[in-house]
Amino acid sequence: MRDLRRRNRTGPYNPDVTDRVLVFDTTLRDGEQSPGVRLSLDEKLEIGKQLTKLGVDIIEAGFPISSPGDFASVNMLAKELRGVTICGLTRAREKDIEVAAEALAPAEQRRIHTGLGVSDNHLTHKLRMSREEALATGVKAVKFARQFTDDVEYFMEDSGRADLDYVYKVVEEVIRAGATTINVPDTTGYTYPNEYFHLIKGIIENVPNSDLAVFSCHCHNDLGMATANTLGGVMAGARQVEVTVNGIGERAGNTALEEVVMALHIRKDKFGIGTRIDTTQLLPTSRMVSRLSGMVVQRNKAVVGANAYAHSSGIHQDGVLKERSTYEIIDPLLVGAEKSEIILTARSGRAGLKHRLAEIGFAFSEDRFEEIYTDFLKLADTKKEVDEDDLRLLVG
Ligand code: KIV
Ligand code: ZN
Repeated sequence: MRDLRRRNRTGPYNPDVTDRVLVFDTTLRDGEQSPGVRLSLDEKLEIGKQLTKLGVDIIEAGFPISSPGDFASVNMLAKELRGVTICGLTRAREKDIEVAAEALAPAEQRRIHTGLGVSDNHLTHKLRMSREEALATGVKAVKFARQFTDDVEYFMEDSGRADLDYVYKVVEEVIRAGATTINVPDTTGYTYPNEYFHLIKGIIENVPNSDLAVFSCHCHNDLGMATANTLGGVMAGARQVEVTVNGIGERAGNTALEEVVMALHIRKDKFGIGTRIDTTQLLPTSRMVSRLSGMVVQRNKAVVGANAYAHSSGIHQDGVLKERSTYEIIDPLLVGAEKSEIILTARSGRAGLKHRLAEIGFAFSEDRFEEIYTDFLKLADTKKEVDEDDLRLLVG
């Protein structure tokens, strides 16, 4: 295990990075890039306040040069929020960086997030630059950004498909130029967990000055592997995760904040490191982002979905009612949910029905209960769910 302590020397912005994973929330930047999502200034402030309450370390508030609205929102969050670093995204261009620095000026702690592509695909088709030109542009951008803040993050877009030796070279040079966090985005969601693990591990082990920066996982979910890849990166030594609430973001989205936070929490036996997130704020935050963004959370979504703590089959209900941990690895109270739910359907058994009847104040002799159970099964076969009103009718 490498000693990560030297990373503290790089500045005051991540004072205790050795003992936790920093949570970099990009709901308001990458998340807002989801097709169909547009948040007003007030809505961004509401979400920004909630993210601060949740305990994220860094809020990427927007891309200031991209529009007057984005400038205003980054600037407003920089003015209003305290106890959290506010970050603005830029391309590796001086004008972008100047505009971001202006938007971020009122922040208590500010970060400029600059960079450009590293894969040959992006260099050839998008940037139309040679590797050398791109590297020189990136180094220049970092040096320029350092004039405005000592907290500069460098992103290497499409790292997941890039040549490793080139990635190592870029990392070494941009750290030398003053970058303090290195973002390793799997922009297209192409990698798989073992591969992303080795990408991060390879950088940390092969770049001579890697101990002077924090490495950050930024994964997209095109193949449904964003959370697994991010956790692979943490296993390999990355100490920042870039995430969005409910996993919203471009195309299939970004890594979901709630999934990574709870995986680190529940499997601390394996990771040995956590975050400073107040997990009881996860569900309220998820609901707020869903309401304001209009992006509905699927019922079976991990951690925050409506079904995440609901049990409908008889075998599961019987187990959970005897001992919650038989089928639940997360205590719903931990994420801010009220309780586990017993949902009555045609698959439910006697234990579930008895429990729900008791919840609304009914207890019956065994014979009477058997009659009710028979009627319940008949009714349940005709509906998706038997609710409280149905139960009251059943018992007469
Ligand atoms: O996915 C990506 O590469 C990004 C960068 C701009 C950080 O969002
Ligand atoms: Zn992204």
